Amino acid sequence: MDEKSVIDIRDAAVAEVTGARSAQALDAVRIKYLGRKGLLTAVLRGISSLDPSERGRVGKAANEAKSVLAGLISDRARELEEASTRKAGAATDISLPGVGQWVGRKHLISIVTGELKRIFVGMGFSVATGPDVEDVFHNFTALNTPEGHPAREQSDTFFVDGGLVLRTHTSPVQIRVMETTPPPIRMIFPGRVYRKDAWDAVHSPEFHQLECLYVDRGVTFPDLKGTLAYFARRFFGPGTGVRFRPGYFPFTEPSAEVDITCVGCRGGQSPPDSGACRLCGGTGWLEILGAGMVHPAVFRSVGYDAEEFTGFAFGMGIDRLIMLKYGIRDIRYFLESDLRFLEQFG
Ligand code: DAH
Repeated sequence: MDEKSVIDIRDAAVAEVTGARSAQALDAVRIKYLGRKGLLTAVLRGISSLDPSERGRVGKAANEAKSVLAGLISDRARELEEASTRKAGAATDISLPGVGQWVGRKHLISIVTGELKRIFVGMGFSVATGPDVEDVFHNFTALNTPEGHPAREQSDTFFVDGGLVLRTHTSPVQIRVMETTPPPIRMIFPGRVYRKDAWDAVHSPEFHQLECLYVDRGVTFPDLKGTLAYFARRFFGPGTGVRFRPGYFPFTEPSAEVDITCVGCRGGQSPPDSGACRLCGGTGWLEILGAGMVHPAVFRSVGYDAEEFTGFAFGMGIDRLIMLKYGIRDIRYFLESDLRFLEQFG
């Protein structure tokens, strides 16, 4: 045995310690070199039988190798121990940076639809929904919109295979409800609607409406006016005024387009310093919905007696209501899933 052989043993042992992948493997290395019958132990035991001139150097090298190895083995044991507790998830390293939690929240459209429902439910209306994929009968024909009517234009409607359409408004839900329910009816129908509009700041091929239907004996136009005046004050604030203008819809007669006092200049009372109000163009009014008394032809298409019952209906764009109330300038924000927008609400 000479000094060089001791160093070779040490180097082999060091390589095996660093390569040990488990506590058991590491223990086997310890026993192989430092155990009772270990290679280094044997060297140390054999020192006394060496030539006296070799004893000093070999003894020194063997003792050094032993202490280096013992240190390395205990370091490696700690490493392996830490790795296994990390894997088991048992240890929490409080020095690591935290992991942020994303909290989900309601979309602004859902928040406001909920608010609209609460207002109408508070007035005695109940809520129902209908299918987004509708047949032509419910979307057009039963609503007194016969074939050839401009509202049926190919260019405005998404057609689906099998004579179906993506509903262009929520009015077909009126028909579905009246087909299955006798009067009286006092209901609202919120939902998505689809039109072949190109995207811009105020048009989207997909948007939301809230439809309202009230049918009973003796329902009159003043009932419609009172309902909408109350709604406008509840949704837009106490001072909000309502204006009815003559309009035309195939499914109502008479029909009206309904405006509220402008939420930007408060109906012209507080016009901006320079020029006309950007929101209403200086008129003081903003159109928010279409309304009217249910057309007798609509009642006939669902088998209601148009002599006995009257009713009012209206339909409003939820996206537009939100844009006016919150001062949002672009309808595309509602569908873009941009967290910088969505996180501001809810
Ligand atoms: N369906 C119409 C639209 O999409 C809105 C509407 C107008 C609904 C008058 C009604 C109504 O119920 O009576 O433009």
